[in-house]
Amino acid sequence: MPKTLIEPFRIKSVEPIHVTTRAEREQMLQAASLNVFKLRAEDVLIDWLTDSGTGAMSSRQWGAIMEGDESYAGARSFYRLEKVIQDLTGMPHFIPTHQGRAAEKVLFTAACRQGDVVPNNCHFDTTRANLEYLGVQALDLVVAEGLQPQLVHPFKGNIDLARLEALLQHDGARIPFGMLTVTNNTGGGQPVAMANIRACAELLHRHGKPLIMDICRFAENAMFIKMREPGYADKPVREIAREMFSHADGATMSAKKDGMVNIGGFIVLRDARWLEAVRNGLIMMEGFPTYGGMAGRDLEALAVGLEEGLQEDYLRYRLRTAEYLGERLDAAGVGFVRPTGGHAVYIDARTVLPDMPVAHYPAWALCNALYLEGGIRGVEIGSVMFGKRLDDGTETYHAMELVRLAFPRRMYTQSHFDFAAEVIAELKDKAADIRGVRIVKQPKYLRHFTCDCEWVDA
Ligand code: F0G
Repeated sequence: MPKTLIEPFRIKSVEPIHVTTRAEREQMLQAASLNVFKLRAEDVLIDWLTDSGTGAMSSRQWGAIMEGDESYAGARSFYRLEKVIQDLTGMPHFIPTHQGRAAEKVLFTAACRQGDVVPNNCHFDTTRANLEYLGVQALDLVVAEGLQPQLVHPFKGNIDLARLEALLQHDGARIPFGMLTVTNNTGGGQPVAMANIRACAELLHRHGKPLIMDICRFAENAMFIKMREPGYADKPVREIAREMFSHADGATMSAKKDGMVNIGGFIVLRDARWLEAVRNGLIMMEGFPTYGGMAGRDLEALAVGLEEGLQEDYLRYRLRTAEYLGERLDAAGVGFVRPTGGHAVYIDARTVLPDMPVAHYPAWALCNALYLEGGIRGVEIGSVMFGKRLDDGTETYHAMELVRLAFPRRMYTQSHFDFAAEVIAELKDKAADIRGVRIVKQPKYLRHFTCDCEWVDA
């Protein structure tokens, strides 16, 4: 058998990408105040800012769009998607929302009270923000392996069961439910093992607490289980996904990831304990229960996407793509979070810029250099995103300086990845020319989205 794993699709509709010169990119980055969030997407050659809602839909999905029933109440498209989700998750109550954070807001508003604590392997930013907004503490309990970028471990997304048990014993009354995020995006797109899901659910259930899963990337997680966990190699990935869901009492999903659509999300629940409050909240915040925040055509595209996202040849290619870029980076001496995750590669900027002071934001600097050198857009996960300027003018910094390259689904081919690998290897050779930045204007919260920067050596 040939060793090359090909993209398991052919291209039916194309969208040109815009090649720019270095001089143009310098001008555009300057106009964007050295912040790639402020670039126009048109001026980006390879856009790896996020894998969320950015993928290509299939011809079957575009066909399904025409079947959308846009009735306000009781639309056919709702019942079609409801059946797909019930069959997949084994849970009866399906509540559509317009995206993942809306699902979080609606569920948490119904299920949490001020002063509660919600443990998770790692909360995603919006999950944490939605909990904290309600006065709930969001606690990250990922295993110690999950916090060591260079350490290779098959399931770095696992939750630390001993710490979870201690929390349940000590503070059980404050816990409305426990959570697991599959895969663990904040920790590098790392999977959670079935054994860990099972043990986490048993532990929570022993203490009378439900398990809610954040299932944005459930299909990638299921494929990792098939490839890495003893006993699963011969099981269809759909069955593995069903087994994962069998341990949960509910889930929130951003369908913009493994749902293979550009917009959409949902809540699914096993029993009715929060159902009435969730439906009431939904009507106020999102829409009538048979469409939530989605158009009928979006419901149709998702019904098809949930099936396509579980196809094994697609998933094998998907996980292999990230691994392939990791191998190329390894060969160039560029460090990254190991092993590569499902949806992204997280470059360790310190391995490219070991001498740049953290006050010059090395991951931000590398992100800018990637754009200048190759027109590639990633996202800084370092001291601009997670550091803070204090009132006395001093700064706190993040423990890691990472650049996340997140891959839209079914969008880029192997030559795009080869090109990116070459650009990154060249940057490593030219690291002495990469310029650090200072922040000249920033808002109080979430500064990375809108801050203005200048070159420190300007
Ligand atoms: N949960 C996880 C694990 C996520 O990664 C995201 C989004 C959400 C919830 C929220 O979903 O965007 O549909 O409201 N992650 C994107 C990213 C934005 O770039 O990682 P949403």
